Amino acid sequence: MIIVTGAAGQLGRIVIAKLLTKVPANQIVALVRDPAKAADLAATGIQVRAANYNEPATLDAAFAGATKVLLISGTEFGQRVQQHRNVIEAAQRAKVELLVYTSVLRADTSPMVVAVEHRETEALIKASGLHYTILRNSWYTENYTASIPSALQHGAFISCAGEGKISSAAREDYAEAAVAVLTQANHAGKIYELGGDEAYTLADLAAEISRQTGKQIPYKNLTQAEYQSALVAAGLPEFLAEFLASSDADAAQGGLFESGRQLSQLIGRPTTSLASVVKATLENGGGNSSH
Ligand SMILES: NC(=O)c1ccc[n+]([C@@H]2O[C@H](COP(=O)([O-])OP(=O)(O)OC[C@H]3O[C@@H](n4cnc5c(N)ncnc54)[C@H](OP(=O)(O)O)[C@@H]3O)[C@@H](O)[C@H]2O)c1
Repeated sequence: MIIVTGAAGQLGRIVIAKLLTKVPANQIVALVRDPAKAADLAATGIQVRAANYNEPATLDAAFAGATKVLLISGTEFGQRVQQHRNVIEAAQRAKVELLVYTSVLRADTSPMVVAVEHRETEALIKASGLHYTILRNSWYTENYTASIPSALQHGAFISCAGEGKISSAAREDYAEAAVAVLTQANHAGKIYELGGDEAYTLADLAAEISRQTGKQIPYKNLTQAEYQSALVAAGLPEFLAEFLASSDADAAQGGLFESGRQLSQLIGRPTTSLASVVKATLENGGGNSSH
């Protein structure tokens, strides 16, 4: 039985859809906080079980019969090490054969703020005695294409990533990598550094948006403080603005660059191109700005 945590999230839903093409539905369990929001997952024939990373007893019940667990990292900054510890310990009690974890690029050495909790989680996993695979995911390309509406509205794509090359990939690609390690042999003990094949700067992204929309959307590089202020002015909470600005300042120094192509090797195809993600975003209404 393969258990996927965070299964009702954006990455988790793609993992479940791709797993269903490889594994019988009765071998898949989707772990969600609120089954009422996962009726569509249950309709595929998989089991949907309720559990919360904060509540070990719910994890024990949800892990019954588990052979492999994909731990999709949580969303609550500052609480994630304890939450992940709860999942790891439940996996130990359930004696799972393989724990797969979605970490971040070069979690062991990355200066990025986001790496801290991933680094601590990886240490817990390594100390657990479980067989594990760590998927050190770079950024989702969608993190950046989510800013397309605002870029079209303001006539510029702003950030503070300078000339930093970004090796992001689509959620689809990372989901497929997770499915590969869950369904193939010989991934235990491996730590994969996963990024897109095609590294780009945010100026390249702005040029691609301009090309596809026919509008001139230049990239405007701000200082970290200016970008943080702009995000706050746009309505983002202070902690999120600080996180995003600090991440892009690290990206300017190469924090999101990865040339190893382990992701395309794992999924057996090139990663989704930047142009494709921009196109999909525009087609899904991401470019429907009235300005
Ligand atoms: N590489 C990147 O660029 C990047 C960007 C953003 C996030 N991430 C990380 O990658 C993960 C997956 O990304 P995503 O886009 O799928 O995020 P998402 O859509 O926000 O999904 C996060 C999932 O985590 C679950 N979750 C959060 N707290 C939980 C808890 N206490 N107990 C049980 N489940 C909990 C959520 O459950 P519910 O469905 O019940 O809410 C949701 O299914 C994120 O959680 C985050 O750690 C990576």
